[in-house]
Amino acid sequence: MRLEAHLEQLVAQVVLDLLPAEEHGNQVRALVRPTQNQEHGDYQVNGMIPLAKRLRRPPLEMAAPVAEALRERPEFLSAEVAGPGFINLRLDAAWMARLLNEDLGDPRLGVPEVETPKSIVVDYSSPNIAKQMHVGHIRSTVIGDSVSRTLRFVGHRVTRDNHLGDWGTQFGLLLVGMRAFGDETALAKNAIVELERVYRLASARAKEDDTFAAAAREELAKLQAGDSDNLALWKRFVATTREVLEEMYARLDVEFDIWLGESTYNSMLGDVVALLIDRGLAREDDGAVGIFWNEVDAPKSLRNQKEPFLVRKRDGAYLYATSDIATALHRQDQLQAEESIYVVDSRQTLHFRQLFAVAELLGVRTKMEHVSFGTVLDEHGQPLRTRDGQTVTLGSVLDEAERRAEERIRAGVAEGKIQLEPEAIVETARTIGIGAVKYADLRQNRTSDYRFDWDKLISFSGDAGPYVQYAYARTRSILQKGNRTEEEASEGTIDLAHEAELALGRILLIFGDTVHKAAETRQPHLLCQHAYELATQISRFLTQCRVLQPGHTESERARFALLSLAGRQLRCALNLLGIHVVERM
Ligand code: ARG
Repeated sequence: MRLEAHLEQLVAQVVLDLLPAEEHGNQVRALVRPTQNQEHGDYQVNGMIPLAKRLRRPPLEMAAPVAEALRERPEFLSAEVAGPGFINLRLDAAWMARLLNEDLGDPRLGVPEVETPKSIVVDYSSPNIAKQMHVGHIRSTVIGDSVSRTLRFVGHRVTRDNHLGDWGTQFGLLLVGMRAFGDETALAKNAIVELERVYRLASARAKEDDTFAAAAREELAKLQAGDSDNLALWKRFVATTREVLEEMYARLDVEFDIWLGESTYNSMLGDVVALLIDRGLAREDDGAVGIFWNEVDAPKSLRNQKEPFLVRKRDGAYLYATSDIATALHRQDQLQAEESIYVVDSRQTLHFRQLFAVAELLGVRTKMEHVSFGTVLDEHGQPLRTRDGQTVTLGSVLDEAERRAEERIRAGVAEGKIQLEPEAIVETARTIGIGAVKYADLRQNRTSDYRFDWDKLISFSGDAGPYVQYAYARTRSILQKGNRTEEEASEGTIDLAHEAELALGRILLIFGDTVHKAAETRQPHLLCQHAYELATQISRFLTQCRVLQPGHTESERARFALLSLAGRQLRCALNLLGIHVVERM
C-alpha cells in the first residue's frame, strides 16, 4: 500500500466526518507529513491550522476531536494535539507489522499499480552517432532507464525509444571528410574512433576552406534527397556506430524497444513543413521557413522570442526541430502515445518549449514533457573534461570505476573486511563499479549540476552505490548463515519489538509512496534516498538485533522475515535504478 497516501486520506476523511458538509465543501487537505523529530511521533497532521483559518474557528478546538477520533483507529498508538493545532501521530507497531506481513507475501512487495495505465514513450540516451558517448550521455541514459523501469513497474505501457541523432549536419562533413581523409581499415576496426578523427579534420578544414564547407552542405542535401552513394556510406556509419553503442548499453544493462533515429522521419519532413505553412503557423522568410513567435498564438513565455523556430533552411535542408515535430506526430498517430517524455540536457529547454508549443498549435494530444537534467562538473565546477581538454568518454569512466572498485575490494579482502573468493573479485568489482557510477548520477536531484568525485562515488560508508550494495550483501550472508532461502525466511511472521526493528519497519512501509512519487515526478533520486535510508536501517538492525538465535526461537523467525523483506525491497529499489546487486561481499 501507499502508507503516506493512506494516512492523508484517512485523516481527511475523519475531518470530513466531523464537520457539517456545508462547512467543508468536501475540501480538506490533512497535510500529513513525517515528523522532523522522532520524539514527537512518526507523522504530523499540518492541515488543521489552515483549515481552521479558512473556517474561522480556533485551531485547537478543531484539532481536539480529530485527534480523539484518530486515537480510536487501529493505525495509531497515539494521536496528540500539539503546539497551535498540529496533531502528532505515532503508528501502532502491531498494525505496521500486519502490513509488512502482507507485503511479505506479495511479489510486488505491496507496491500498488496505477489505476489508469497510460502508454508512454520515453525518449532517452539518443546520442548523436559517429561520436563516442561521453560523460554527458550517462545522465540521459541512466535517468531515462530508471524512469522507464519505474513507470513500467507501476503499470504503465512504456516504449523506450532511442532517438539517435543520425541525420544532422555532421553527416555532410563526415561524407566529404571520409572521402578526403578516411581510412577504410580503421573504419572497419573501430568505427567511432575513425569517424571522430575524420570529423575533427573535416570540421577544421571547413572553417578555413569555404569550398570544402560548401561541398559538405551539398553532400548533406544529396544524402537527405536520397543519393545512393551517400546513403550507402551513411548506412555504414550508422551500422558500425550502432555496434559500438550496443556494447555500451549491454555493459550498462540498458535497453530500448525501438531505435527510431532522426533519419526515420526524413520522408515526412516535407509534409511537416507544408502542414505548418498550410495551418498558417510557419512562413517563409528569405528562403528559409520558420515559426515566428510574435505572429502565432504562442504561449506568453515565447512571445518575446525573437528568433524563429526554423524548420527549413535556405538551402532546403531540414532541421532538428523539423524532425522533432514529425516525431511528435508519429508518436501520437503510430504509437498511440498518451505521454511522451524527453530525457534531455537542460540546455535544450528552449528547443522543447518551442517544440511543445508547436505541437499544441497543431492539436497534438500527446502530453509532452521535458525531463531535463544538469551538467556533470569537475572538482572546480567546470564541465568535466580530460586533461587535454577533450570530453571524457563514457567508456573511460566505466573502466576507471571498475578499476577503482577492484582496488577497494582487494584492499577490503586483505584487511578481512570483505569476504570474497579471489575468482569472484573481478566480476563483483564490475557490478560495484558500474553501480557506483549510476548511483552517483541518480542520487542527484536531476535538475542540478553535479560534481563528479571519484572518492565519494566508490565509497563503502557514505551515500554511495557500494555502501547500499554492501548492505544488501549483508542480508544475503545472514540468510546463508541461517541456512535459509529468501522464500523460507519469508514464511516467518514479522513482529516489530525492538526500536531498530520499528525504524526499519517505518522505512519499509513507505516504499509504495516512494516508487509512485518517483514515477510521477520522474525523479530517480527519491529511490536513491529510499535505498540509502533502507541500507542504513538494515545496518542498524543488524548491529542492534541478533537475528540468528540459539534454539531457533519465534523471534528468530520474525527477524529473518523482516530481514528477507528488507533485502527484497532493497533489491527492488536498486533494480528500479538499473543497478545490479551482488550476492556476496
Ligand atoms: N540527439 C540529441 C542530442 O544528443 C538528443 C535528442 C533528444 N531527443 C529528441 N527527440 N530531441 O543532443
